[in-house]
Amino acid sequence: MLRAAVLAIAISALAGITFTGASAQNLEAIKARKALLKEMADATKKPGAMMKQEAPFDPAPVKAALAKIQANAPKIAALFPDDSKTGGETEALPSIWEKKADFTERFEKLAAAAKAAETSITDEFSFQEEWPKVVGNCGGCHKQYRKDK
Ligand code: HEC
Repeated sequence: MLRAAVLAIAISALAGITFTGASAQNLEAIKARKALLKEMADATKKPGAMMKQEAPFDPAPVKAALAKIQANAPKIAALFPDDSKTGGETEALPSIWEKKADFTERFEKLAAAAKAAETSITDEFSFQEEWPKVVGNCGGCHKQYRKDK
């Protein structure tokens, strides 16, 4: 918790966001987390195509995606302050703030799975085995905490 709070402050300082406390809707946080989520999704596109045998196996985009996930997950986790429940076309469900510890832990698990995959994925075979263990964390969380479109 404390680490997340410190991170949130650090990130907002970096992004030049000032929390005045006056705004009911923290649109900056919503925008920032969406951008970081989209970055992760973009990074997983090539490996996703490889998973479906639509592209030949190539370790470079896999490594890049695993690094991107580890870099972004803690930043995203820190971008769900209490004043970012609505607005900015957010798809975040209210349950996030009711079960914040579980929600935050899922980002830690995602990052840990990406870290583990860095060593467990050594070839195409292990990629096919291990990649779903990483991205399974995405869908698992969306199912619980993201609005169905
Ligand atoms: C711990 C929960 C959690 C995990 C893990 C998670 N997401 Fe999400 N994701 C969310 C929530 C909540 C939203 C809705 C955010 C919003 O609209 O404010 C979201 C939204 C998104 C979006 C839409 C962003 C936009 O532009 O509106 C994409 C793309 C996405 N996630 C991709 C991923 C990918 C890829 C992974 C795994 C590598 C992942 N997410 C892991 C919770 C999670």
